Amino acid sequence: MHTQVGIDVEQAARLLEQGELVAIPTETVYGLAANALNAQACARIFEVKNRPSFDPLIVHLAASSDCEAALASCARVIPDWALKLARTFWPGPLTLVLPRKPLVPDIVTSGLDTVALRMPAHTLAQRLLERVPFPLAAPSANPFGFVSPTTAQHVLDQLGGRIAYVLDGGSCRVGLESTIVGEQGGRPVVLRLGGLGLEELENVLGTLTLATSSGASPGSLESHYAPRTPLYFDDLGYRARGLSPDQVGLLLFRAPLAEVPPDQQEVLSMSGDLNEAARNLFAALRRLDALAASRGLRAIFTQKFPERGLGRAINDRLRRASFRPA
Ligand code: TXA
Ligand code: MG
Repeated sequence: MHTQVGIDVEQAARLLEQGELVAIPTETVYGLAANALNAQACARIFEVKNRPSFDPLIVHLAASSDCEAALASCARVIPDWALKLARTFWPGPLTLVLPRKPLVPDIVTSGLDTVALRMPAHTLAQRLLERVPFPLAAPSANPFGFVSPTTAQHVLDQLGGRIAYVLDGGSCRVGLESTIVGEQGGRPVVLRLGGLGLEELENVLGTLTLATSSGASPGSLESHYAPRTPLYFDDLGYRARGLSPDQVGLLLFRAPLAEVPPDQQEVLSMSGDLNEAARNLFAALRRLDALAASRGLRAIFTQKFPERGLGRAINDRLRRASFRPA
């Protein structure tokens, strides 16, 4: 299959109506979209991503209706906390997990009684969602376990030839997957840290708990989001591992290290802006991974980011990407 790249919303809509897969830009990362009400089309998402069937998909909603109507299209129950969050942060990098309506196919929710819902804030994604008469199921548009794509080129690099179309919306503004909030014991809990800071959620709901068990969000596996090169998190001690400066890649927050060649280092935000760091994170990991392959670098070493704002989600992704000797 030849994969076309472009900005033709009409063509993307027609393909989706035919049950094809289309990669779409969102403000967080690119998604691999299918008609969420077409079980067969959604099954192809799992195939193309090599994604295990126990890992459910996020359903993306059009912003044309108000938040309550949008939620009610797929959710059976809408708790107060969920409506409050949707009204404050949608369209935006926030996903809500709520009891599902029967029209959402089993394959989308991996057979769970809940469905993950999000209204993305990207002009092209919204034009597409408003154009088609169904919501879009879309996981991140990467092979399962790899780093999420934040440009159309990233999608092509990994899924080219396997999908019909990539809708090119430029570089993703947020750069990290959405924050996911669900309910446990009648209270909202954060299932995945992401592109909306914990502080912002807590401004609306008060103190929140983070779900620790990976069972809470089936896809939140301990090891995930990984480059191919071994990555050490919160550890710049490459010498202690017997490596010299010319054998390593570094991923740093604000400033490079003098002893390592500059082109082997990715500095995510010289000005110390965690939003900018988040925006640059996945592309930087991809560049270091490619450089490691072409130059024979042995490992990537990373700093820990400040545990505030998007720093928490950056640390979460790097921790999951990190190498754990067997
Ligand atoms: O920003 C994002 O969320 C991007 C863009 C494309 O919207 N999507 C994304 O999808 O990151 P994905 O599939 O890579 O991650 C979605 C996660 C899954 O790993 C799964 O654990 C969780 O959402 N999820 C989906 N449905 C759920 C449910 N019913 N209960 C608990 N967790 C759920
Ligand atoms: Mg993903």
